[in-house]
This record gives sequence, structure tokens and C-alpha cells, in this order.
Amino acid sequence: MIDGPQRHLFDVPDDVTYLNCAYMSPQLRSVTEAGLAAVADAEHPWELSVDDFFGPAEELRGLVASVLGAGDDPDGVALVPAVSYGVGVAAANLPIGPGRTVVVLAEQFPSHVYPWRAAVADAGGTVRVVERRDDRSWTDGVLDAIDATTAVVAVPNVHWTDGSAVDLETVGAAARAVDAALVVDATQSLGAMPFDVFAVRPDFVVAAGYKWLMGPYSLGYLWASPERRDGVPLEHGWITRDGAEDFARLVDYTDRLQTGARRYDVGERSNFVLVPMAIAALEQILAWGVPDIADALGASTARIVEEAERRGFEPTADRGPHLLGLRHARGIPDGLPAALAAHRVHVSVRGDSIRVSPHLYNDETDIERFFSVLDEVAR
Ligand SMILES: Cc1ncc(COP(=O)(O)O)c(C=O)c1O
Repeated sequence: MIDGPQRHLFDVPDDVTYLNCAYMSPQLRSVTEAGLAAVADAEHPWELSVDDFFGPAEELRGLVASVLGAGDDPDGVALVPAVSYGVGVAAANLPIGPGRTVVVLAEQFPSHVYPWRAAVADAGGTVRVVERRDDRSWTDGVLDAIDATTAVVAVPNVHWTDGSAVDLETVGAAARAVDAALVVDATQSLGAMPFDVFAVRPDFVVAAGYKWLMGPYSLGYLWASPERRDGVPLEHGWITRDGAEDFARLVDYTDRLQTGARRYDVGERSNFVLVPMAIAALEQILAWGVPDIADALGASTARIVEEAERRGFEPTADRGPHLLGLRHARGIPDGLPAALAAHRVHVSVRGDSIRVSPHLYNDETDIERFFSVLDEVAR
């Protein structure tokens, strides 16, 4: 539940207007506290127990599963350092084959493109790019691109440049109809809009943890569907092996892996600093509740749309509630983000849009400041 303005939970000064959660979330004070305590704990390794290597990682898996609408299935979650790593796991475990295609969106985030380019190059397949068209939704474009050659549909939930949406349930059903896999990069949506893995039925979902999930940089998440939990990991370390909890017997080598998606965890995933920070972040996200976050951010972006349209901008039409692009017939002036930042107003420019991405630390004052500074610098 969200009880009024939440800025006090962050260290965002009054004269800073930060509308750039899609770039990186400001760190919650609770996350800073968890990190500082964990850094101090590292002075005393003799106080570490075996459970510190396993317990917090399990707690984190449970929280991630809840955000994915799979609260009773933490087994599906692997801890990964980056989206590129998670997509690498997916690409290593999805057969492509000669002549087959991988469907992606135009200008999709590179970490969800390069692994597929490499995979199709190895297999003799191709990447099929859905072009952006004003008269067609991404969903329709993806549906048009799916055919009997499709091996993988590799898309986001919303486009990272402007929040334009892909209907994952519809796309997932179309992928299944031709026996293609669905791999979702949910970095720009997970935590800010509800996600239901059981409705979407993806093969893999990957998300970086430092944006809408408000966790530390370098800790992200991979979800594997129940059918994809017996695949090959990218690494062959000790902690993902069966029996790793028994440190005295680690050299009783075994080919058996830990259960569920744990086999895909990155080495040293017990990261004693980042894991407690990520736990603190997700506890806060779940305490607010993702549907309530989406509603609150939807109200903020609706206000932004209203002000933007009055100034002749064209906001993203079919989009997620939390993130939007503002295009202008005259284009976006060069150096706009720097000019805004000089007034302590922070947004991004991605492609031909100003990308605006508020969160619960923002209020009406931020929206007014953004537009008054925009009016001044873009004049
Ligand atoms: C959609 C999307 N995916 C992934 C990332 C980050 O990728 P990686 O974790 O590989 O650095 C970003 C960062 O902006 C992003 O916007």
C-alpha cells in the first residue's frame, strides 16, 4: 500500500527533479543501510556461516518470484549479473537451427539483440527485426513477423526508448502456436507494472535489478519456465552443484546440479553486499505493491502527457503506465539533457524522444519544474 508521498524514503534533494528511473533508480535509504551494514560485516569473515552463502540468495529468489507473480515458485529464479548474461543463458538453451528466425523489435536494447545475433550466426539463422510504424502496434508487428520459421520471439514488455508496449500474453500465445520460445527482457517494466509469468508463459524472463526493481547495480534476475530448468549453465562453478552446502566435501565432484533455475546462477552469487541490498529493495517494492505502484505512476505520466500535449509534443500512445517518450515535430534539440541537468532536472533522450520516467519520489512540483525548465531551455 502506498501511503502518500514517498520521497522521504530516498535521498533526493528538494531542488533535484529526477524523472529518470528508466536509467537508474535513486537508491532507497533502506537499501543504503543494508549495503553499509553488509560492507561492515565483511570486516569479520569468521562470523560468516554456511547459511550466509545460501539463505539470503533463497530469500531473494522468493521475493523476485513474488514480483513475477510466481510467489510459490522461487525455484524458477536464477541470480545473474546482467541482462546480457541472462539472455546468454537463454540463447545457450534454445535450439535455433538453419533457416530459423529470432524476432526482435527495431532499436531493441543491445543486450537482448547481440546474444541472438551470435546465436543465429552459429546456427545459420537470421534475426528478424520488427520495424517501428506509427500505424501499427508492436504487438501487431510481432504477430506479423511470427511464422513457421520462428525459433525465438525475443522482446521486451515495453520498449526501452519510449515505453511503447508489447502485449506479451498475445505474443506468447502466437509463439507457442508455432512452437517458438518466448524470451522477455522485463528490465524496463518489472516492478513498475504487474507481470504474471503464468499468464504470459515465457520460456525465460530477464531483468536488470537497478531500475524499476530499485536494487544495486550488477545484480539481476533470470526466470526459467519449469520446462527450461534442466538446461546448460554458462559457468561450471561449485555453488550450483548438488551438495555444495557441505564445504568439507566439495571435492567429491558431482555432475548433479542444484534444483530449479539455481543451476544458472552466476559464480559468487551469494554476494554478501549486493544480495542484502536487493532484498531490502524488493521488500519495499512488495510493501508498496506493484499494482499500486503502476497506478501511482500511471497518474504521474497522465499529468506529464497533459502538459506535453499542450506544448505540441506527441507522447507515446500505447504504452506502459510508468514510462513515456515525448516526440516533437521539430525534433529534440541537441544537448537537451545536459541543458536540463544544468537546472537539476534529469531525463534521458533515447532515439528521437525525450524519455520521462517518474517514480514515487516525484510529485506535482517535479512535473511543474520539468516543464518550466523545458520551456526555458528549449525555447
Ligand atoms: C531494456 C534494457 N535491458 C537491459 C539493460 C541493461 O543491460 P545489461 O544488464 O546487459 O547491462 C537496459 C539498460 O538500460 C535496458 O534498458
